[in-house]
This record gives sequence, C-alpha cells and structure tokens, in this order.
Amino acid sequence: MTEFVKAELEAGILTVTMARPDKKNALTNEMYGALADALERAEKDSAIRAVVFQGDGDSFTAGNDMADFAAQSREPQAERHVVRFLRNLAISTKPLIAAVQGNAVGIGTTMLLHCDLVYVAPTARLITPFVNIALVPEAASTHLLPARIGHARAYAMFAFGEPVDASTAVSIGLANASVPLEELRMKAREAAAALAKRPAGSLSKTKALMRDAETISAHMQREGAVLQERLTSAEAREAFAAFAERRQPDFSNPAR
Ligand code: COA
Repeated sequence: MTEFVKAELEAGILTVTMARPDKKNALTNEMYGALADALERAEKDSAIRAVVFQGDGDSFTAGNDMADFAAQSREPQAERHVVRFLRNLAISTKPLIAAVQGNAVGIGTTMLLHCDLVYVAPTARLITPFVNIALVPEAASTHLLPARIGHARAYAMFAFGEPVDASTAVSIGLANASVPLEELRMKAREAAAALAKRPAGSLSKTKALMRDAETISAHMQREGAVLQERLTSAEAREAFAAFAERRQPDFSNPAR
C-alpha cells in the first residue's frame, strides 16, 4: 500500500492518481505496484468501464524515481513492479485515458503510447530522456513511438531527450487534444463517461484488433533485458550520481 497512488471508482470510471506532487510524482517501486494493481482491478471488475490516469500538482510524472534507479544499479530489486505495470498496460482490454499536465518524463510519456485517449494541457511537456541518463527506452516505446510519429522524430526524442510540447503532441498524434488546464480532468472524465456508455465488448474487441499485445509484450521483454544491463553500467551510475548531486553528468570517459 502506498499513499502516493490513489484509485477511486465512481460511475464505472476508475480514476488512478499519481499523488506525490512534491517529487513531481516520480514513481517508486511501490507506486508501480499500486498502478499495476489498479489495472488488474480494472480487468477483473466488469463494472469498471474505463480507467483515467492523472497526476497531482504541476506534473503528470517525472518518471522513474532516480533514487530507486540508483539503488537498482547497486543491487537488483527482488520484485520490480514496473514490469507488472508495463505488462498490464500491454494486455489491458479496458479503455485507458490520460490527462497530462506539465512534465511527463520517461515512462510518463511511454505509458501514453498504451492509452487510448490522451488529453494534454498547454503546460504539457512530453520527454523521454532515457539516453540522457545512459539507459534505454521501455514500455515497448522503441517499437511504438517510431510507428506512431516516425523514426526521425522518435530518435530525436530518445537520443536528445527533445521535449514535445502540447500542440506538437497533438499535431504528431501523441495526444487527441490540448485543453485548458482547468478543464483537463473534466475532459478526461467526460470522455471516460462517454466510453462507459458504449458497448464494452465491442470496445475491447476493437482495442484488441488495433494492438498486437503479444508483439508489444515481447518487445517489452527485450527492452527490459537491455535496460537491466544498462542500469548497472558505469555510465548510468554516473548519471544517477549527477542527478543526486545536482550537476551535469560527465560522459567524456569512453570506458564508462
Ligand atoms: N526521481 C526522484 N526525484 C525526483 C525526480 C525523479 N525522477 N524528478 C524530480 N524529483 C524531485 C527533485 O529531486 C526535487 O526534490 P527536492 O525538492 O527534494 O530537491 C523535486 O522532485 C522537484 O524537482 P525539481 O527538479 O526541483 O523540479 P523542476 O520543476 O525544476 O524540474 C523535472 C522537474 C521533472 C524536469 C526534473 O525534476 C527532472 O528532470 N527530473 C528527472 C526526470 C528523469 O530523468 N526521470 C527519469 C526518466 S527515464
């Protein structure tokens, strides 16, 4: 149990809120566990017709907690709930909707590739800085992102950590619409409520036909194996130390 993820069910809509705003909703292992649990609950409960993801404070999420990454680089975690969360995203049959304001970093952006509707506020900034911290992308994003926005744009997002703003996100197909911040959550809820009235069986079959869950899961596994290796690399250790020490990492030594 963690207080940093809330899951509230109302009128068939499960609203899942990342609620660690003082840390920009950076995701710890425990938080991934709660996110994974929420998706499992949605799959099991036929009364849940849609899931909305949102984040408290000025950011959607700053992505994986950097202290957790640093800890994993020293000692592998016994149970990495992120793996379960990603797997549940891949195989989810329920409509997933995201309401994104501010920074959506790393998995904060890659999880959007698994959402069926994405609404962004004008403050939204989608950023996938995996290479900046000497890692590799996850969530099958090395497969899904180029397929969605083309190789060149996806590569720039990955290799340079180039941020994508709200209007660009809409124009390149990463989001459905940009809505004023004060209307963001309502917009996501309205969309969820509209979906909740549609025939659930038809929606889930449509989603299954649109996504190849097996290919996505296989890709996640390949990425996960490489990410695990990268986590213990000298380059990644330097990146995590630099974040903790609030300095730029030094990647000048090729032996790293
Ligand atoms: N893990 C752990 N803590 C994080 C975090 C993360 N991913 N992102 C932010 N925080 C913490 C900061 O350490 C800071 O904590 P403090 O107040 O105790 O010092 C607090 O959240 C606020 O962050 P700050 O950097 O001051 O906010 P900002 O608005 O200037 O910048 C970000 C926000 C998200 C752009 C910036 O924090 C950032 O780049 N974070 C790292 C993101 C990242 O690389 N994630 C991994 C992706 S693969």
